Amino acid sequence: MTGLPVHEFNGFQTASGHLTVDAESKEPYAEDVLAQLKADAAQVIARYPQPRSALLPLLHLVQSVDGYVTGRGIDLCAELLDLTRAEVSGVATFYTQYKRHPNGEYTVGVCTNTLCAIMGGDQIWDEVSEHLGIGHDETTPDGKVTLERIECNAACDYAPVVVANWEFFDNQTPESTKQLVDDLRAGKDVAPTRGASRVCTFRQVSRVLAGFTDGLADEGVGAGPASLVGLQVAHENGWTAPGEASTRHTANAPKPAKKADDAKPAKKADDAKPAKKKGK
Ligand code: FES
Repeated sequence: MTGLPVHEFNGFQTASGHLTVDAESKEPYAEDVLAQLKADAAQVIARYPQPRSALLPLLHLVQSVDGYVTGRGIDLCAELLDLTRAEVSGVATFYTQYKRHPNGEYTVGVCTNTLCAIMGGDQIWDEVSEHLGIGHDETTPDGKVTLERIECNAACDYAPVVVANWEFFDNQTPESTKQLVDDLRAGKDVAPTRGASRVCTFRQVSRVLAGFTDGLADEGVGAGPASLVGLQVAHENGWTAPGEASTRHTANAPKPAKKADDAKPAKKADDAKPAKKKGK
């Protein structure tokens, strides 16, 4: 690590990611910002039978405005949902997607869970952390990139995986990840390996997570070829889940190899009938 004075940049951020809440975090919202927040919150709350169930999306809504879960954001959630500030804080500090100090424009997560780690994730982490001069849950001095070690992102078939604001970058190397963070810091358009055509900012993504669509959800391919190999083999062999003769498959799935294979599950279902009668 090059030892950049990250603690001086944010003032209240420690290497382990804990914090003391700064005074600015508690300053009241400007009137127009508060009015918009309340109007958006009312839409979110109306989606749930119990107002308190809207807490998770409302915390994302706060992040979409403030860039993290501020003291004033916690106050607002408590007021709107008839909860105590302690209850709201308890939730905000439990989930890693909620940031309790200013977050970078892009959260770059390096998967260092078992499979990614042995496939190169640990090496990526070491090199990118040194390249940026920051550790876990720390932010570059320009406020662009917050670096995180992350747990399995269910993309092990593309290990080692890196995510930027939760968009996938598959089969990464230390070099490709260093290029990724450099491009993000330089303000270049960056395209994930799968899914949307570009990486949105932390605040933009937070608004989507609050329940306000940006129209990008169905962009691109969700499951790549490596994720669909098992499905392809199943189709080629006429395999289905027990009790399910359905041939449904996703838009990305390979088509069944032969029509004749479709008959096999039905035969298996028939085979099961005598066994059922025996048990009666
Ligand atoms: S271990 Fe990295 S995505 Fe599963």
